[in-house]
Amino acid sequence: MMKIFTAIHCIWMLIIVTALMVDLSSVDALLPLPKVQRIIRKINRHGPYLGIVVPNAFEMDPLLQSSSFNVSKTLDVAGRRFHIGSIHKHRVIIVMSGLGMLNSGITTQLLLSFFEVKGVVHYGIAGNANSSLHIGDVTIPRYWAHTGLWNWQRYGDGPSDELSLESNGDYTRQIGYLDFANFTTPSNQSSGNLLNNVWYQPEEVFPVNGTPEVRQHAFWVPVDEHYYQIAKSLETLKLEGCLNSTTCLSNTPKAVLVERGSSANVFVDNAAYRNFLYTKFNISPIDMESAAVALVCLEQGLPFIAIRSLSDLAGGGTSESNQAAVFAGLASQNAVTAVIQFIKDL
Ligand SMILES: *[C@@H]1O[C@H](CO)[C@@H](O)[C@H](O)[C@H]1NC(C)=O
Ligand SMILES: *[C@@H]1O[C@H](CO)[C@@H](O)[C@H](O)[C@H]1NC(C)=O
Ligand SMILES: *[C@@H]1O[C@H](CO)[C@@H](O)[C@H](O)[C@H]1NC(C)=O
Ligand SMILES: *[C@@H]1O[C@H](CO)[C@@H](O)[C@H](O)[C@H]1NC(C)=O
Ligand SMILES: *[C@@H]1O[C@H](CO)[C@@H](O)[C@H](O)[C@H]1NC(C)=O
Repeated sequence: MMKIFTAIHCIWMLIIVTALMVDLSSVDALLPLPKVQRIIRKINRHGPYLGIVVPNAFEMDPLLQSSSFNVSKTLDVAGRRFHIGSIHKHRVIIVMSGLGMLNSGITTQLLLSFFEVKGVVHYGIAGNANSSLHIGDVTIPRYWAHTGLWNWQRYGDGPSDELSLESNGDYTRQIGYLDFANFTTPSNQSSGNLLNNVWYQPEEVFPVNGTPEVRQHAFWVPVDEHYYQIAKSLETLKLEGCLNSTTCLSNTPKAVLVERGSSANVFVDNAAYRNFLYTKFNISPIDMESAAVALVCLEQGLPFIAIRSLSDLAGGGTSESNQAAVFAGLASQNAVTAVIQFIKDL
């Protein structure tokens, strides 16, 4: 009996040793699940990692190419590529999510489910709603909200009328609304609008320390307080102000802590809506992912911060075209510069 046990034990040892000798640099996208799980376990032995989630390749590439990032391996799993390595003293995993709330939410959850992660840094470019800020500036908001979850009120009802399903606790009139009649042009012709009002809604959340199937609600999601304090030192960071030898921004770009940022599955290139977001909610950067990453981290109980550089004025620019196309590269580089400095300070 003892002999059989020992033999099985030896075979297991052999399997484990072989598994440890797998060359991780040759990892394939179509590996069988048990093999992927083994590789992930091996990667996690070197954790915990700082997770870095970034929407698009043009925002991620300057970080991957930076001399501050040392890559040790990549792992392709679930349609995403995880770049594992280090930045200064921190082990990091960088992953590109793709555009929008669904992609960034899924990717963040995959990162947190697969890997041992101690916190998440999210970065990218954004539209700017704060007229005191300029293209090329880097913003670090204290709160993020998803401003795309709405209850669209029927025509004829107003602010004093209960919303559909409000009494169930599904929807609320506490956050505020957008009244389409306020945007009629010419503005002296305000006589109502069939689109009536949309009411902003908090997200339903199911935090790990809550009861499954018992919802909680979250609208303004704070970033991690410790991360936010560390980010304060970014305000003295020197950022790039020139595209090339001839084209420079008129203002020297700076990193600033601001009150709030917002995300939704909407590319905002509209001055009226941009001004509404700033005057109603004190929102500076407007993007399509940060709040989703924030909400996943809130639910998983992990520290989170987002660093968003401003590439355009979200429709508030003086020129006819949106400036994102010209300044996205410069803005991405400034976001990466701020992210690297933040990780160095961490
Ligand atoms: C990258 O790794 C090499 C070799 O381990 C090391 O000498 C170097 O300092 C690392 N660079 C950074 C920026 O961490
Ligand atoms: C509509 O515009 C008026 C006048 O500017 C303003 O007081 C009011 O708050 C606006 N309503 C909404 C829902 O934004
Ligand atoms: C409303 O505004 C338009 C243009 O801004 C102007 O031509 C028109 O006379 C105004 N109408 C009234 C009733 O004030
Ligand atoms: C600098 O960039 C601008 C905007 O893309 C471009 O029009 C200009 O030709 C560039 N100048 C040089 C010297 O590359
Ligand atoms: C807008 O930007 C200015 C300039 O940096 C900043 O001081 C201010 O706090 C921002 N506004 C909000 C509401 O965050």
